[in-house]
Amino acid sequence: MIKEVVVLQKWTWAFTFTFSSDKMLQGRFRLRILSAVLLSLIVIVGWSSVPVAESALGVNWGTVSFHKLKPSTVVDLLQDNKISKVKLFDADPDSLQALMGSGIQVMIGVPNEMLAALSSSTAASDSWVRQNVSRYMRKNGVDIRYIAVGNEPFLSSYSGQFQSYVMPALLNLQQSLAKVNLASYVKLVVPCNADAYESSLPSQGAFRPELTQIMTQLVSFLNSNGSPFVVNIYPFLSLYGSSDFPQDYAFFEGTSHPVTDGSNVYYNAFDGNFDTLVAALSKLGYGQMPIAIGEIGWPTDGAISGNLTAARVFNRGLINHVLSNKGTPLRPGVPPLDVYLFSLLDEGAKSTLPGNFERHWGIFSFDGQAKYPLNLGLGGRGLKNARKVEYLPSRWCVANPSRDLSDVANHMKLACGVADCTTLTYGGSCNGIGAKGNISYAFNSYYQLQMQNERSCDFDGLGMVTFLDPSIGECRFLVGVTDTRSSSSSSSSSSSSSSSPEYRRWVIVWMLIAWRVWFFVL
Ligand SMILES: *[C@@H]1O[C@H](CO)[C@@H](O)[C@H](O)[C@H]1NC(C)=O
Ligand SMILES: *[C@@H]1O[C@H](CO)[C@@H](O)[C@H](O)[C@H]1NC(C)=O
Ligand SMILES: *[C@@H]1O[C@H](CO)[C@@H](O)[C@H](O)[C@H]1NC(C)=O
Repeated sequence: MIKEVVVLQKWTWAFTFTFSSDKMLQGRFRLRILSAVLLSLIVIVGWSSVPVAESALGVNWGTVSFHKLKPSTVVDLLQDNKISKVKLFDADPDSLQALMGSGIQVMIGVPNEMLAALSSSTAASDSWVRQNVSRYMRKNGVDIRYIAVGNEPFLSSYSGQFQSYVMPALLNLQQSLAKVNLASYVKLVVPCNADAYESSLPSQGAFRPELTQIMTQLVSFLNSNGSPFVVNIYPFLSLYGSSDFPQDYAFFEGTSHPVTDGSNVYYNAFDGNFDTLVAALSKLGYGQMPIAIGEIGWPTDGAISGNLTAARVFNRGLINHVLSNKGTPLRPGVPPLDVYLFSLLDEGAKSTLPGNFERHWGIFSFDGQAKYPLNLGLGGRGLKNARKVEYLPSRWCVANPSRDLSDVANHMKLACGVADCTTLTYGGSCNGIGAKGNISYAFNSYYQLQMQNERSCDFDGLGMVTFLDPSIGECRFLVGVTDTRSSSSSSSSSSSSSSSPEYRRWVIVWMLIAWRVWFFVL
């Protein structure tokens, strides 16, 4: 496909040249007009109907958050920012409902935990496709283009637990798609972590030895269905994980540590990583396979190298690099097929196992507010914030200044065990706010998580509600947004908090006390 486009563009240039030399001949207006019409036709056809060798930018929309924006608010946010491709990690009906009629191209996902079931029977894959794909594929429905079968299922830390399900699940889903005539429109892909391949030099790239067999099958399957290889690339993690990784090599601004590989020189980790994959694919005989980047980005908090400046510089560099269509030394002029930024929004309920930065990958904060200026190169100028965000009332829970806080440790543990306190840690935006600040931050996180339920700010009398924003400098004390889980039945925050488990527990305690009082008095 890509080759055809290159040929077509050359041809267009040739035509332009003939046309302009034609200009020198006087009196041939008709021919000129005819050529002009022909030329514009060719240009229009060439640019609109052929998938050009140009990258398209999309975003990942993850929803592991305590404070979820309404799906319709998120879709508005995508549209306001002219983002026309989105990748989901499941097939959440609320998200898909909101995407209906939006024209946005969607990649939905099969979570790893579902691979076993889908690999075991075509009945399971048939009903997955029926429930999660075909029912949306209609006029004003959802433009589902890809299904991600598993998410990084070959990650080394999974020790192979999902590995054997991938091919059977792919084959079943392919059959199920064929049954409903969607097999050529909806492409199956398997987003892989870059740890699937390794090498010290890009040209020596190879898949991990224990993956050779399955990768051979996977790549041949992808090739026969016209699907790209999808890979997630994280220069941040290379930098975070290794103290001798040259910092400037993670970015796109030039490096004092270029990697020389034969006649090729690499100036950034992205190109080096990408070409390692190209080499690994070549070893299997598929050196021309299109590659899409399923996830790439930089976090803004929870680590020293995860900060606003670094994230802005990385994402700006990435977007410029990709949109320049430069490609890489092994694929000059051929940028990745699609690039999905990780991520659209912060997800405060994600596991911190990878690190405290894990909840801070968004180009927007959890409530859809741009964290830093960024031009996505999609025609919008800067980032546009989410509109009509429904916040809880402007109040916060803080440590009561008139109380002795020496017994607060357990409360803090409880609060930070469930709510998000990752910004307090070393390298985080709230790391310097002092002991009392720490306590207040933890109390507030918990209070907002509990939808500002009054009792959740008690902490044995150590907490108190305030109407003054306690945010200090870069450290933001959040106010929650009305939870979408309860907003479908009722939009008022008080009724949603009255159904929270916390509230029910209190009701039970009070009933018990009342019952005992009644029992002993009588
Ligand atoms: C459709 O996808 C959703 C979300 O990922 C999942 O919970 C559900 O089980 C899927 N449907 C079927 C029939 O597997
Ligand atoms: C932000 O991250 C960059 C890249 O790792 C680092 O060089 C810089 O020192 C960090 N900035 C701050 C203020 O910590
Ligand atoms: C606040 O909490 C963080 C994270 O637990 C800790 O690193 C920091 O030292 C604390 N600050 C004070 C003054 O106790």
